[in-house]
Amino acid sequence: MVTVIGLGFVGLTTAVGFSAKGHKVFGYDIDDAKAELIRSGSIPFYEPGLEEALHHGLSHNLEIVGESQLNRALVTSDVIFYCVGTPCADDGTANLSYLCQAIENTAEKFEGSLKTVVVKSTVPPQTTKRVIRPLLEQMGLRIGVDVGLAVNPEFLREGHAWEDFISPDRVVIGCDDKLSRATLNALYQPFAVPVFFVSYSAAEFIKYMSNTLLATMISFANEMSMVADKFEDIDVKQSFHLLSMDKRWSGTPASMTSYVFPGCGFGGYCLPKDTLAFIRKAEETGHHPGLLNSVLKVNDEVKEFVVSKIAAKVPLEETIGILGLAFKPGSNDTRGTPAADIIRLLMQRGYQHIVAYDPMAMSEFRDNYPFRVAYVNSLEEMSKSAKYLVVLTAWSEFKEKQHLFDEGSVLDFRYFL
Ligand SMILES: NC(=O)c1ccc[n+]([C@@H]2O[C@H](COP(=O)([O-])OP(=O)(O)OC[C@H]3O[C@@H](n4cnc5c(N)ncnc54)[C@H](O)[C@@H]3O)[C@@H](O)[C@H]2O)c1
Repeated sequence: MVTVIGLGFVGLTTAVGFSAKGHKVFGYDIDDAKAELIRSGSIPFYEPGLEEALHHGLSHNLEIVGESQLNRALVTSDVIFYCVGTPCADDGTANLSYLCQAIENTAEKFEGSLKTVVVKSTVPPQTTKRVIRPLLEQMGLRIGVDVGLAVNPEFLREGHAWEDFISPDRVVIGCDDKLSRATLNALYQPFAVPVFFVSYSAAEFIKYMSNTLLATMISFANEMSMVADKFEDIDVKQSFHLLSMDKRWSGTPASMTSYVFPGCGFGGYCLPKDTLAFIRKAEETGHHPGLLNSVLKVNDEVKEFVVSKIAAKVPLEETIGILGLAFKPGSNDTRGTPAADIIRLLMQRGYQHIVAYDPMAMSEFRDNYPFRVAYVNSLEEMSKSAKYLVVLTAWSEFKEKQHLFDEGSVLDFRYFL
């Protein structure tokens, strides 16, 4: 039996995923309203396939428990997954307080029965060895004797979370004791994919390599697009498509090559915070990661570039229509979205008439960013509200309905129209 602590993008997918693979699963979230919503069969974000799988789980082997049933879940489970947030602290390091709190609050309820503690949240190298292990030991739990301890990073992509979890490319587990190894090997058997056991720090490191590589690819493309703009006679979109036709890329799936393509900066919950947290962790060792610092710098510069391109075309008194608020298409997540920074910079420049539209993320954006912008409910409405359009998210709807707009009035910062 499995208990999943924290039912956000990762935790909910993990809980539903293990239940779909035949395990009895308990899910718990400290946010009662979120837990209640999930218990009623709804998911608090957009994720294709997940809600249907949740319904199936709830009618079979998935139970969303509240505080009062958490003890029962913990005592009867063999494995406890921790999937709580690890946001950026003020100094850029990973804030581990939610994770430590969640482990402290639950480990005191283990009541002597043998179980494996699994960190699924993204944590910097050495966290499990230097923070989580000592935390459990201070609570009197001996690793490998009273509890197993493992770190099992998650590589899912928002918008594809369900398929990524159910069909992972590989499973990476950092552990140091036989109990964790045997338990997790058995747990992942139904997935029929290779499971690799590495050290705690290697598992943590691989996750950061994955995210910082993607961030680096995006910043490379964005830097190239800004340089290309200076040369004036380069079709940026065509140039990148021709770049990817090189046979040395052949066999690389489009889902990977798409990261070497310009836009208006990377965003979302993970890439910005994980790149910064990894820089801070590297600095602790005395190494100053110049490349990764530049990756973040370019990510800021590209937004300034977008705003300067808009300013060169759009008079201050005109209305700007923002097309796309989600950090990527197919998602309603607006955490760290470039749209927020770009709107802020436009307002600082003096633009006062901004109208926004997103097919899916308008209420999330409105809740998270209290900008004085107007919202419209369709592209048709947008075509009547704003003379100049700025594309910030590559939603297919924008391409399908681009006939609504005068070509000369659209600034496409996703290079896809
Ligand atoms: N979002 C992604 O695409 C993604 C992908 C891979 C890894 N990750 C990592 O996974 C972790 C979770 O990310 P997320 O996007 O699911 O975050 P999230 O903010 O969507 O969800 C975290 C959940 O944990 C709950 N929580 C916090 N403290 C708790 C506690 N003490 N007990 C129970 N629940 C508690 C919160 O209420 C929230 O629902 C982070 O470390 C993130 O970096 C995220």
